[in-house]
Amino acid sequence: MLALHADRLVARYGPVTVVRDATVRLEDRSLAAIVGPNGAGKSTFVKVIAGVLKPAGGRVYLGDEELTGLPAHRIARRGLAYVPQNANVFPSLTVVENLEMGGFTRKEGLRPRISEVLDIFPDLARATKKRAGTLSGGQQNMLAMARALMLDPRVVLLDEPTAGLSPAYTQVVWDQVQRVTKTGTAVLVVEQNVDLALANASYVYVFVAGTNHAEGPSADVAALDLAAIFLGRAGAREH
Ligand SMILES: Nc1ncnc2c1ncn2[C@@H]1O[C@H](COP(=O)(O)OP(=O)(O)OP(=O)(O)O)[C@@H](O)[C@H]1O
Ligand SMILES: [Mg+2]
Repeated sequence: MLALHADRLVARYGPVTVVRDATVRLEDRSLAAIVGPNGAGKSTFVKVIAGVLKPAGGRVYLGDEELTGLPAHRIARRGLAYVPQNANVFPSLTVVENLEMGGFTRKEGLRPRISEVLDIFPDLARATKKRAGTLSGGQQNMLAMARALMLDPRVVLLDEPTAGLSPAYTQVVWDQVQRVTKTGTAVLVVEQNVDLALANASYVYVFVAGTNHAEGPSADVAALDLAAIFLGRAGAREH
C-alpha cells in the first residue's frame, strides 16, 4: 500500500517558486531517496510534506488520510515524522531522556517503544545514560532519527542524515536506516551523495530545478547520465 503520496506540490518563498509540481510516492516499508543538485528544492519539498512550510499547491496523503496544510505537530501525531537537515538533540539530556521527549505524547507503551527503538541503534543502546551533547556527530544524527521514531510513525522523512559524517560512519547510518524499514516504517531520505542513494535506496527520485526530472528503481536510475544532470558536481557518477 502507498504510505505517502506527495502529489504535485508547489512551494514558494515570497514571489519565488522553488518547488513546482513535484511528486513522490512511497510504498509502506520501502526506502526511497531524493537526489538532485544544490538548490533543487529537495529540503523545501520535504518541509512542505512535514507541514513546516505551507504548500502553494498540491496535496499530501498519508495512506488514505489527507494531511495537506495541517500544522507540523498534527502531522507528526498522525504518523509522519520529519528529521531536518542539522537536526538538534537536547544536549544536556541523556539519550534515554531524549527518547522520552520524542515519545511524550504517547498515551502508553513508552518503555517498550524505547526498547524497540534502541534495538535498531546499537550505538545508542550502549550509551543510554550519556548526555546527548557528548555523543559524536554521527551518533547525534542517529539519536535525532531514533527520537523521531518514538511515535511509531508510518513514514519518516530524513533530510541528509549523513551530511558531514566520515565515509565509514555514513554507511553505519544507512545500514540503520535500512533496519528502520524492517520495523514497518517507510523512509524517504534526501541524500546529496548519488552513489550512496543508489546503493542503499530501492527507488530514487532525481529532482532538478524544483521538480521531478527522473525516477525509478535504483538500477535504472544508475544507468542514467546523472553526471550531465548534475553538471559535473562532486558526487555525480562518471560515465
Ligand atoms: N528560507 C528561504 N528563503 C528564501 N529562499 C530559500 C529559503 N530556503 C531555501 N531557499 C531557496 O530555495 C531553493 C531551494 O532550496 P532547498 O534548500 O530546498 O534546496 P536543496 O535541494 O535542499 O539544496 P541543498 O542540496 O543545498 O540542500 C534555493 O534556491 C534556495 O536558495
Ligand atoms: Mg537541502
